[in-house]
Amino acid sequence: MSGHGTPIPMTSHRAEPLTGRAKVPGDKSISHRSLILGAMAVGETKISGLLEGDDVLDTAKAMQAFGAEVVNHGGGNWSVFGVGVGGFAEPDHVIDCGNSGTGVRLIMGCMATSPITVTFTGDASLNGRPMARVTDPLALFGAKTVGRKGGRLPMTIVGAAEPTPVRYVVPVPSAQVKSAVLLAGLNAPGKTVVVEKEATRDHSERMLAGFGAEITVEDSDEGRVITLTGQPELKPQVIAVPRDPSSAAFPVCAALITPGSDVLVPGIGLNPTRAGLFYTLQDMGADLTFENPREEGGEPVADLRAKYSPNMKGIAVPPERAASMIDEYPVLSVVASFASGKTMMAGVKELRVKESDRIDAMARGLRANGVTVAEGEDWWSVDGLGPDGVPGGGTCESFLDHRIAMSFMVMGMAAQNPVTVDDGNPITTSFPIFEPLMTGLGAKLSKG
Ligand code: S3P
Repeated sequence: MSGHGTPIPMTSHRAEPLTGRAKVPGDKSISHRSLILGAMAVGETKISGLLEGDDVLDTAKAMQAFGAEVVNHGGGNWSVFGVGVGGFAEPDHVIDCGNSGTGVRLIMGCMATSPITVTFTGDASLNGRPMARVTDPLALFGAKTVGRKGGRLPMTIVGAAEPTPVRYVVPVPSAQVKSAVLLAGLNAPGKTVVVEKEATRDHSERMLAGFGAEITVEDSDEGRVITLTGQPELKPQVIAVPRDPSSAAFPVCAALITPGSDVLVPGIGLNPTRAGLFYTLQDMGADLTFENPREEGGEPVADLRAKYSPNMKGIAVPPERAASMIDEYPVLSVVASFASGKTMMAGVKELRVKESDRIDAMARGLRANGVTVAEGEDWWSVDGLGPDGVPGGGTCESFLDHRIAMSFMVMGMAAQNPVTVDDGNPITTSFPIFEPLMTGLGAKLSKG
């Protein structure tokens, strides 16, 4: 697959005990939304702690193409001078969202109710992912789409000149689809209603309220019912982006499986719609504690402390927890390899349409490193080999997927033999400081 320049293999060798503080970058989901909502507010939104990974930088460029002024002050501090709801200009070039499903789907939503025409593309991974899940509800607002077979990018959307608000029951558990519909609803007159049967990450709802939109959330027999009143004037915000729990997962899991480790991961967002991995690890017997719990920027935050945990046991992960840890199953499957007994992960069909088919990608790589994996369409299981039982020694394909690449780097830290991925480049999409951060804790990573 192409998309991130010449592939650069990366190898993880058995690590020293991992120790110290792991300051992981800002939350990817909140970073995208800060830029997009900032662009739709009137005036200057100030953002600190923005994730400066490729995915988010592509969204920043897109907001500039829509007419917002986006200023990088350095050190994760950014300003967005927004053009207001309904104020987007028509970009004069194709919007390239790189590897980012969140970027492209949210941006499609926010432009779909403006009278502009936009063509979207991405890398080989993104251009293979399903977009009909977003363009179907956007059509209900009056937007028109022409894309490739199977609803794939590149794709052109003609925004609705006279949008009508919609009521939409999201058919798959997806925060991206929910958010695209809400962002489209911003420029439709009247009330847009989104119903989700399973709760997914709720950053859009929280941030829309923060920006001054009228939005309510009610639990009903149908599920979570979110009602947004269209055409508000969004007020610019000062946003401190919490550190990303999905990135924290890597040093946390690495510490749990690497003998002698004791790592503190400070200031991690623990929004309940995101924190499922940490509860699952605790259920497996991990020595993982939440220290100094507090609230920052409207999100619950704590410092995570992870220590080497040689007595972890495989469990059946509750399927109802899937949405709150959907991005963490790859690295969980690595931890499961070092536990004793079987870990069963069910209700996870969505993993098949992420940056890669994550069940397939992990199953192949785990097997290449001596781990037994079974899989079905919406489940997979890993047979744990115990704390020092994983042979390693395999080379895995990362399939242009940052989380696959990082998961196998974590595996190599505690496996008997080094673990290699064919391409470490995708890591920069979400965790550009992965290599220095992990090396600083005691990891031994090499490139080439
Ligand atoms: C995200 C939602 C999830 C997640 C992705 C980020 C978001 O995708 O996998 O990494 O920021 O809304 P889905 O909405 O497809 O589940």
